[in-house]
Amino acid sequence: MSGQPPTSRRATIADLQAARDVKTPFAVLTAYDRATAEIAEAAGVRAILVGDSLAQVALGHESTVRIGMDEMLHHVAAVVRSTSAPLVVADMPFLSYADEAIAVANAGRFLREAGAGAVKMEGGAEMAPIVGALARSGAPVIGHIGLTPQSTLTEGRPRVKGRAPEAAAALLADALALEAAGAAAIVIELVPAELAAAITARLHIPTIGIGAGNGCSGQVQVIPDLLGLLAGRPPRHARPFANLRERAIAAIEAWRAEVEAGSFPGAAESIEGDEALRSALAALAAIDPARDNAPHS
Ligand code: KIV
Repeated sequence: MSGQPPTSRRATIADLQAARDVKTPFAVLTAYDRATAEIAEAAGVRAILVGDSLAQVALGHESTVRIGMDEMLHHVAAVVRSTSAPLVVADMPFLSYADEAIAVANAGRFLREAGAGAVKMEGGAEMAPIVGALARSGAPVIGHIGLTPQSTLTEGRPRVKGRAPEAAAALLADALALEAAGAAAIVIELVPAELAAAITARLHIPTIGIGAGNGCSGQVQVIPDLLGLLAGRPPRHARPFANLRERAIAAIEAWRAEVEAGSFPGAAESIEGDEALRSALAALAAIDPARDNAPHS
């Protein structure tokens, strides 16, 4: 296996490992529906994460803990149906992996019903037994350490993790415990670049960074942050490579102006009837409904 993206089949978790093994950084992007998934695939990303960031960036919730299995399944299945090349990773929502049995059952729904190729779940060493149960069941499982957005109810505002030496050591221990339990990769979110690089160097599985510097095996970004789709400033670790919100607003304003001026739709967007239809309409127009409906005397 090479570090190059596969062309004729859907990527698997093994392709991320192969890329990591030959030190080829790979790109992972979130997507949530047909439009975002098709765009991500056309741009050649190796994997799509149907992240529970869906709750915030697509469904308008204030945090990821507001989304559950049914909504996630709906969107994971849409992304799988809309793509053929990238690995699709389903994010396990808050409380969907509260114990081993629940985690295996819910991962099974993502992999069997929705067609995902891997699942991701948040948490460190404390999650090792659950990661182990998933791995033993044959579910490719990706861990997620550092900032874990589902901890918002207990931790409050998101903060950089692993700045202090003890916290850095704990994160390294988390990563090693997840790897030993059978994790196939680990997302590292919002930690100092040096720490993410040190963790990556100690592991044999790929790391996928977000706000974690460029020493990880791959990078993941949240698609509206990358495309500049939403109002407001994206997080500091994101770089908007486009401002599609402004371009979309300008396009919609142009369309609205044409509707209001009566110039949309024009001939190109309209369906022209044939001569027979025009004659029939002329005959219909000649009928006076008031006269024809009048009571006969
Ligand atoms: O839900 C998500 O989009 C994520 C990424 C931030 C890694 O978990």
